[in-house]
Amino acid sequence: MVDAQRLRIARQHLETTRLLGVDFVPVRAAAAAAAAALPTTQETRSTPRSSGVAPGGPGLRAERQAALDTLRARHDRECDHCTRSTQHTNIVFGEGDPCARLMFVGEAPGAEEDRTGRPFVGRSGEKLNDMIRAIGLERDAVYIANVLKARPPNNATPTPEEAQRCGVWLRQQIAIISPRVIVTLGKPAANYLLDNRDAMGAMRGRWFEYAAPDMPAPTPVLPTFHPAYLLRAYTVENRRLVWADLQKARERLDT
Ligand code: URA
Repeated sequence: MVDAQRLRIARQHLETTRLLGVDFVPVRAAAAAAAAALPTTQETRSTPRSSGVAPGGPGLRAERQAALDTLRARHDRECDHCTRSTQHTNIVFGEGDPCARLMFVGEAPGAEEDRTGRPFVGRSGEKLNDMIRAIGLERDAVYIANVLKARPPNNATPTPEEAQRCGVWLRQQIAIISPRVIVTLGKPAANYLLDNRDAMGAMRGRWFEYAAPDMPAPTPVLPTFHPAYLLRAYTVENRRLVWADLQKARERLDT
Protein backbone atom coordinates (compact mmCIF):
# COMPACT_ATOMS: atom_id res chain seq x y z
CA MET A 1 0.00 0.00 0.00
CA VAL A 2 1.43 3.39 -0.91
CA ASP A 3 2.06 5.91 1.87
CA ALA A 4 -0.63 8.33 0.68
CA GLN A 5 -3.21 5.55 0.94
CA ARG A 6 -2.06 4.62 4.46
CA LEU A 7 -2.27 8.26 5.42
CA ARG A 8 -5.83 8.56 4.16
CA ILE A 9 -6.95 5.36 5.85
CA ALA A 10 -5.43 6.45 9.18
CA ARG A 11 -7.17 9.82 8.98
CA GLN A 12 -10.43 8.13 8.05
CA HIS A 13 -10.07 5.74 10.96
CA LEU A 14 -10.02 8.67 13.36
CA GLU A 15 -12.97 10.31 11.63
CA THR A 16 -14.91 7.03 11.60
CA THR A 17 -14.74 6.76 15.33
CA ARG A 18 -16.35 10.20 15.50
CA LEU A 19 -18.94 9.43 12.84
CA LEU A 20 -19.88 6.22 14.61
CA GLY A 21 -20.20 8.11 17.84
CA VAL A 22 -17.37 6.24 19.57
CA ASP A 23 -16.44 8.43 22.48
CA PHE A 24 -13.45 6.45 23.59
CA VAL A 25 -10.48 5.58 21.43
CA PRO A 26 -7.73 3.64 23.25
CA VAL A 27 -4.82 6.04 23.71
CA ARG A 28 -2.35 3.72 21.98
CA ALA A 29 -4.61 3.24 18.95
CA ALA A 30 -5.22 6.99 18.67
CA ALA A 31 -1.51 7.74 18.97
CA ALA A 32 -0.64 5.12 16.35
CA ALA A 33 -3.26 6.45 13.94
CA ALA A 34 -2.14 10.02 14.52
CA ALA A 35 1.48 9.04 13.92
CA ALA A 36 0.53 7.21 10.74
CA ALA A 37 -1.39 10.29 9.66
CA LEU A 38 1.72 12.45 9.77
CA PRO A 39 3.12 12.80 6.26
CA THR A 40 6.50 11.21 5.75
CA THR A 41 9.24 13.44 4.36
CA GLN A 42 8.98 11.56 1.10
CA GLU A 43 5.21 12.13 0.96
CA THR A 44 5.62 15.81 1.69
CA ARG A 45 8.02 16.04 -1.19
CA SER A 46 6.47 13.89 -3.84
CA THR A 47 3.10 12.22 -3.19
CA PRO A 48 0.08 14.45 -3.75
CA ARG A 49 -2.84 13.24 -1.61
CA SER A 50 -5.95 12.44 -3.57
CA SER A 51 -8.28 15.31 -2.72
CA GLY A 52 -11.48 14.12 -4.35
CA VAL A 53 -11.49 17.40 -6.22
CA ALA A 54 -11.41 17.44 -10.00
CA PRO A 55 -8.13 18.78 -11.31
CA GLY A 56 -9.99 21.40 -13.34
CA GLY A 57 -7.86 24.54 -13.48
CA PRO A 58 -9.06 28.07 -12.71
CA GLY A 59 -10.31 28.49 -16.29
CA LEU A 60 -12.59 25.47 -16.20
CA ARG A 61 -13.77 26.27 -12.69
CA ALA A 62 -14.66 29.85 -13.68
CA GLU A 63 -16.41 28.63 -16.82
CA ARG A 64 -18.54 26.14 -14.90
CA GLN A 65 -19.31 28.65 -12.16
CA ALA A 66 -20.47 31.13 -14.80
CA ALA A 67 -22.68 28.43 -16.34
CA LEU A 68 -24.15 27.66 -12.89
CA ASP A 69 -24.76 31.36 -12.24
CA THR A 70 -26.58 31.70 -15.57
CA LEU A 71 -28.59 28.57 -14.81
CA ARG A 72 -29.50 29.91 -11.39
CA ALA A 73 -30.73 33.19 -12.84
CA ARG A 74 -32.90 31.28 -15.32
CA HIS A 75 -34.14 28.97 -12.59
CA ASP A 76 -35.22 31.87 -10.41
CA ARG A 77 -37.19 33.37 -13.30
CA GLU A 78 -38.59 30.21 -14.86
CA CYS A 79 -38.79 27.24 -12.47
CA ASP A 80 -42.26 25.81 -12.66
CA HIS A 81 -42.11 24.79 -9.02
CA CYS A 82 -40.23 27.61 -7.30
CA THR A 83 -41.89 30.53 -9.09
CA ARG A 84 -45.26 29.24 -7.82
CA SER A 85 -44.04 28.62 -4.30
CA THR A 86 -45.37 31.25 -1.92
CA GLN A 87 -44.06 30.15 1.43
CA HIS A 88 -40.30 30.18 1.05
CA THR A 89 -37.92 33.02 1.90
CA ASN A 90 -34.87 32.17 -0.18
CA ILE A 91 -34.12 29.93 -3.11
CA VAL A 92 -31.51 27.34 -2.17
CA PHE A 93 -29.86 26.63 -5.49
CA GLY A 94 -26.81 24.65 -4.32
CA GLU A 95 -23.19 25.33 -3.51
CA GLY A 96 -19.71 23.92 -3.75
CA ASP A 97 -16.91 23.34 -6.19
CA PRO A 98 -18.21 23.52 -9.78
CA CYS A 99 -15.52 20.96 -10.65
CA ALA A 100 -16.38 18.65 -7.74
CA ARG A 101 -15.96 14.95 -8.39
CA LEU A 102 -18.43 14.12 -5.66
CA MET A 103 -21.93 15.58 -5.58
CA PHE A 104 -24.51 15.13 -2.82
CA VAL A 105 -28.20 15.48 -3.64
CA GLY A 106 -30.75 16.00 -0.88
CA GLU A 107 -34.48 16.52 -1.08
CA ALA A 108 -35.43 20.12 -0.24
CA PRO A 109 -34.38 23.06 1.93
CA GLY A 110 -35.40 23.03 5.59
CA ALA A 111 -36.01 26.04 7.84
CA GLU A 112 -32.37 27.02 8.30
CA GLU A 113 -31.58 26.52 4.61
CA ASP A 114 -34.59 28.65 3.69
CA ARG A 115 -33.40 31.38 6.05
CA THR A 116 -29.82 31.43 4.75
CA GLY A 117 -30.24 30.38 1.11
CA ARG A 118 -27.62 27.64 1.58
CA PRO A 119 -28.11 23.86 1.40
CA PHE A 120 -27.58 21.64 4.44
CA VAL A 121 -26.68 24.22 7.04
CA GLY A 122 -29.03 23.08 9.83
CA ARG A 123 -28.63 19.99 12.00
CA SER A 124 -28.69 17.69 8.97
CA GLY A 125 -26.00 19.87 7.47
CA GLU A 126 -23.75 19.40 10.47
CA LYS A 127 -24.14 15.65 10.10
CA LEU A 128 -23.49 15.87 6.38
CA ASN A 129 -20.32 17.88 7.09
CA ASP A 130 -19.20 15.06 9.44
CA MET A 131 -19.91 12.54 6.69
CA ILE A 132 -17.87 14.52 4.17
CA ARG A 133 -14.96 14.91 6.57
CA ALA A 134 -15.14 11.22 7.41
CA ILE A 135 -14.00 10.41 3.89
CA GLY A 136 -11.16 12.89 4.04
CA LEU A 137 -12.80 15.72 2.10
CA GLU A 138 -13.77 19.27 2.95
CA ARG A 139 -17.25 20.58 2.31
CA ASP A 140 -16.03 23.10 -0.25
CA ALA A 141 -14.47 20.30 -2.32
CA VAL A 142 -17.86 18.73 -3.09
CA TYR A 143 -21.08 20.11 -4.55
CA ILE A 144 -24.34 20.00 -2.61
CA ALA A 145 -27.78 20.51 -4.12
CA ASN A 146 -31.39 19.48 -3.58
CA VAL A 147 -34.14 18.22 -5.84
CA LEU A 148 -36.41 21.11 -4.76
CA LYS A 149 -34.86 24.55 -4.54
CA ALA A 150 -37.67 26.20 -2.57
CA ARG A 151 -38.75 24.98 0.86
CA PRO A 152 -42.03 23.04 0.74
CA PRO A 153 -44.75 24.23 3.15
CA ASN A 154 -44.52 22.50 6.53
CA ASN A 155 -41.30 20.77 5.48
CA ALA A 156 -43.37 18.27 3.51
CA THR A 157 -41.58 15.52 1.62
CA PRO A 158 -41.43 16.46 -2.07
CA THR A 159 -44.05 14.68 -4.15
CA PRO A 160 -42.87 12.97 -7.36
CA GLU A 161 -44.78 15.65 -9.29
CA GLU A 162 -42.97 18.51 -7.48
CA ALA A 163 -39.69 16.70 -8.02
CA GLN A 164 -40.38 16.52 -11.75
CA ARG A 165 -41.16 20.24 -11.94
CA CYS A 166 -38.07 21.45 -10.09
CA GLY A 167 -35.75 18.53 -10.82
CA VAL A 168 -35.02 19.58 -14.40
CA TRP A 169 -32.75 22.27 -12.93
CA LEU A 170 -30.90 19.75 -10.83
CA ARG A 171 -30.30 17.74 -14.00
CA GLN A 172 -28.71 20.78 -15.61
CA GLN A 173 -26.55 21.38 -12.54
CA ILE A 174 -25.32 17.81 -12.81
CA ALA A 175 -24.59 18.24 -16.53
CA ILE A 176 -22.46 21.33 -15.82
CA ILE A 177 -20.59 19.92 -12.82
CA SER A 178 -20.22 16.50 -14.38
CA PRO A 179 -19.34 14.74 -11.10
CA ARG A 180 -17.63 11.39 -11.06
CA VAL A 181 -19.98 10.10 -8.33
CA ILE A 182 -23.38 11.22 -7.04
CA VAL A 183 -24.48 10.28 -3.51
CA THR A 184 -28.21 10.73 -3.02
CA LEU A 185 -29.42 11.44 0.51
CA GLY A 186 -32.78 9.83 1.32
CA LYS A 187 -35.54 8.32 -0.76
CA PRO A 188 -36.96 11.29 -2.73
CA ALA A 189 -33.59 12.21 -4.23
CA ALA A 190 -32.82 8.62 -5.22
CA ASN A 191 -36.32 8.06 -6.63
CA TYR A 192 -36.10 11.22 -8.69
CA LEU A 193 -32.64 10.69 -10.18
CA LEU A 194 -33.11 6.97 -10.73
CA ASP A 195 -36.65 7.42 -11.98
CA ASN A 196 -38.11 4.74 -9.75
CA ARG A 197 -40.39 4.40 -6.72
CA ASP A 198 -38.21 1.87 -4.90
CA ALA A 199 -37.94 1.74 -1.13
CA MET A 200 -34.77 2.97 0.53
CA GLY A 201 -33.96 -0.55 1.67
CA ALA A 202 -33.83 -1.72 -1.92
CA MET A 203 -31.50 1.10 -3.00
CA ARG A 204 -29.20 2.00 -0.09
CA GLY A 205 -25.60 0.98 -0.61
CA ARG A 206 -26.10 -0.25 -4.19
CA TRP A 207 -24.61 1.36 -7.27
CA PHE A 208 -26.97 2.71 -9.91
CA GLU A 209 -26.44 4.85 -12.97
CA TYR A 210 -27.80 8.24 -13.82
CA ALA A 211 -27.89 8.65 -17.58
CA ALA A 212 -28.79 11.89 -19.32
CA PRO A 213 -28.76 12.80 -23.00
CA ASP A 214 -26.63 15.89 -22.33
CA MET A 215 -23.89 13.88 -20.60
CA PRO A 216 -21.31 11.78 -22.44
CA ALA A 217 -21.48 8.84 -20.02
CA PRO A 218 -23.73 7.62 -17.20
CA THR A 219 -22.79 8.82 -13.71
CA PRO A 220 -22.57 6.28 -10.87
CA VAL A 221 -25.17 6.99 -8.17
CA LEU A 222 -25.02 5.63 -4.64
CA PRO A 223 -28.12 6.14 -2.49
CA THR A 224 -27.58 6.43 1.25
CA PHE A 225 -29.67 7.50 4.22
CA HIS A 226 -30.56 11.15 4.63
CA PRO A 227 -28.58 12.72 7.52
CA ALA A 228 -31.90 13.73 9.13
CA TYR A 229 -32.91 10.07 9.21
CA LEU A 230 -29.54 9.16 10.65
CA LEU A 231 -30.07 11.75 13.40
CA ARG A 232 -33.53 10.34 14.13
CA ALA A 233 -32.42 6.73 14.07
CA TYR A 234 -28.93 7.12 15.44
CA THR A 235 -28.17 3.45 15.85
CA VAL A 236 -24.78 1.84 15.55
CA GLU A 237 -26.14 -0.24 12.67
CA ASN A 238 -27.33 2.79 10.69
CA ARG A 239 -24.05 4.62 11.28
CA ARG A 240 -22.13 1.59 10.10
CA LEU A 241 -24.26 1.36 6.95
CA VAL A 242 -23.72 5.03 6.12
CA TRP A 243 -20.04 4.68 6.84
CA ALA A 244 -19.83 1.70 4.47
CA ASP A 245 -21.66 3.70 1.77
CA LEU A 246 -19.30 6.64 2.13
CA GLN A 247 -16.31 4.35 1.88
CA LYS A 248 -17.71 2.91 -1.33
CA ALA A 249 -18.17 6.38 -2.78
CA ARG A 250 -14.67 7.38 -1.77
CA GLU A 251 -13.16 4.23 -3.29
CA ARG A 252 -14.95 4.96 -6.55
CA LEU A 253 -13.49 8.47 -6.56
CA ASP A 254 -10.03 7.06 -6.07
CA THR A 255 -10.18 4.59 -8.97
N1 URA B 1 -32.51 18.46 4.01
C1 URA B 1 -32.32 18.43 2.68
O1 URA B 1 -32.71 17.47 2.02
N2 URA B 1 -31.69 19.43 2.11
C2 URA B 1 -31.22 20.47 2.80
O2 URA B 1 -30.63 21.37 2.21
C3 URA B 1 -31.41 20.47 4.19
C4 URA B 1 -32.07 19.48 4.77
